[in-house]
Amino acid sequence: MSEVYEKLLNCLACVRKKTDFVPKAAIVLGSGLGDYAEAVRVEYELPYGEIEGFPVSTVPGHAGKFIFGFIDDIPVVCMKGRVHYYEGYPVSDVVLPTRLMKLMGAQILFLTNAAGGVNTSFHAGDLMLIRDHISVFAPNPLIGANIDELGVRFPDMSTIYDRKLQQLIRGTARENGIYLQEGVYAQLTGPSFESPAEIRMMRTLGCDAVGMSTVVEAIAANHMGMKVCGISCISNLAAGMTDNPLTHEEVQEAADMAAPNFKKLVTESVKGMKQFIV
Ligand code: HPA
Repeated sequence: MSEVYEKLLNCLACVRKKTDFVPKAAIVLGSGLGDYAEAVRVEYELPYGEIEGFPVSTVPGHAGKFIFGFIDDIPVVCMKGRVHYYEGYPVSDVVLPTRLMKLMGAQILFLTNAAGGVNTSFHAGDLMLIRDHISVFAPNPLIGANIDELGVRFPDMSTIYDRKLQQLIRGTARENGIYLQEGVYAQLTGPSFESPAEIRMMRTLGCDAVGMSTVVEAIAANHMGMKVCGISCISNLAAGMTDNPLTHEEVQEAADMAAPNFKKLVTESVKGMKQFIV
């Protein structure tokens, strides 16, 4: 058995010693959605630190735990805080939580993040439905021996973000009067923000928003056959698009300001996911 798979199974065994909760949907809470758990009828919380071998985030504002509970009557697991590749973890650790949530039972993965707007028609505070992604600037999480128990060696990535879930989120935004941009998200490694030349390059490549997460998780989830969807909160316009230097604090503040709509869109969309769960 591969080391990566063994570690994953050990983490699952550790979780199962604490709770037998079976989530049907998994939600990864990015910056700005930190106190999202308000929308969840919480059953059980599990700090990442209590799971042996689980990668624990070092970023301020990303303190980590799994929150198990219900949105309506849908059993969900929320990740409050995620680890990023730039923290120095191997990418197999970065996607371990995603894989673990699938093994717990989650069939749907709802990814959220804060991102820099690259599309010139975007504004800070906009929400963007992720239609597709660019992964080539981040390490591929499937490099290494394939874990056959999880998925195939060469998984198709032509519809990483499930079309029906996209349609659901679009409709939910419309019904709730939430303006929703759409576009392509690219993951770069960070932790430095991009240079203006890099942002011009990303725009030329067809990218609408950039960030430091999400794509590797989406690939790992797709490999395992999960239905994936995602929303970015455009916390700032990317480097060179305004005269302001970028700071983590600014990203966090803007994400906090967009939080009410962000939360509403996530919660109402999850309620509509019942039809996609078996
Ligand atoms: N670049 C990369 N990641 C980000 C940004 C950005 O401008 N804003 C929030 N996350």
